[in-house]
Amino acid sequence: MTHPRTGRPRERVLTMRGIGKRFGAVKALTDVDFWVNEGEVVALVGDNGAGKSTLVKVLAGVHPPDSGSIEFDGEDIGIASPADAQRLGIETIFQDLALCDNLDVVANLWLGRELRDGATLDEVDMEQRTWTLLRELSAKIPSVRVPVASLSGGQRQTVAIARSLIGEPRVVILDEPTAALGVAQTAEVLNLIERLRERGHGVILISHNMADVMAVADRVVVLRLGRNNGVYNVADVTSETLIAAITGAVDHSPAPRRVPERTDAAPADPRDAEPAADEGHGGTVIRMPHAGSRRTPRPRGDGSR
Ligand SMILES: Nc1ncnc2c1ncn2[C@@H]1O[C@H](COP(=O)(O)OP(=O)(O)OP(=O)(O)O)[C@@H](O)[C@H]1O
Ligand SMILES: [Mg+2]
Repeated sequence: MTHPRTGRPRERVLTMRGIGKRFGAVKALTDVDFWVNEGEVVALVGDNGAGKSTLVKVLAGVHPPDSGSIEFDGEDIGIASPADAQRLGIETIFQDLALCDNLDVVANLWLGRELRDGATLDEVDMEQRTWTLLRELSAKIPSVRVPVASLSGGQRQTVAIARSLIGEPRVVILDEPTAALGVAQTAEVLNLIERLRERGHGVILISHNMADVMAVADRVVVLRLGRNNGVYNVADVTSETLIAAITGAVDHSPAPRRVPERTDAAPADPRDAEPAADEGHGGTVIRMPHAGSRRTPRPRGDGSR
């Protein structure tokens, strides 16, 4: 499977290994592994308090981890602040969306990154680029010159997603993007997530909604009580299996440590490092492949839904 724009094989963008994070006595994350490839939608699921938001806040530069390492484009990096995350190309859309209700769609998209024509703002260029981006996302926004307060929940989510794309990020993180939406608006946001995949972004989707996860994700990472509890390809898992992993009815917490160290026994071609199967629990649990491995293609028909 190749990248839609570069024609190259899809590359690993981000790898987290052994991430730990404590808040006082609370162990929010223990030894968590996570990875995302370009053009891949990874759902991050788990019960309340499982550590999902904490894990993405580590990526967003909100919480520095206490232990573990993060690799971005093959290099060990630290993410000490939200500005660091943004510089790397990691954009997070938190549940509150953080839009300015009194400003219009164009102003929200370009806030803090306004295009200028000499001393004045280049409103025409910003508006044109806004329409181009919204069209690319097949977004249904009637006007870009209305205050975002007047938009529906789904349209506001669209504006927040479009805003996150201005800097052409490598990774886009969405924390519960459909939680407050009705059926039609949820479908719109799921479509938008497919557009993000087509554009080659790595997408991390936090969701409690198994129907959404099954509809749009390529891979699902389950967290339970702050630990990994299974990684599944959506193509060969059922929502019942996912729910069993989420609730702890099945235990996939890794023991002993399951991330191959970079130095040990790497296959000659790292793309041959297909995930090792761990059958017998109603789904195939996949283990962290080496960097650069191909994702498992999933039959998608014509890609529309
Ligand atoms: N800033 C914080 N200070 C103290 N404890 C925190 C903080 N943030 C998270 N925690 C704790 O860390 C654990 C993981 O929380 P987190 O918000 O990551 O869970 P979650 O999986 O996102 O849950 P939810 O589905 O409810 O959003 C919880 O026990 C939570 O109470
Ligand atoms: Mg959360």
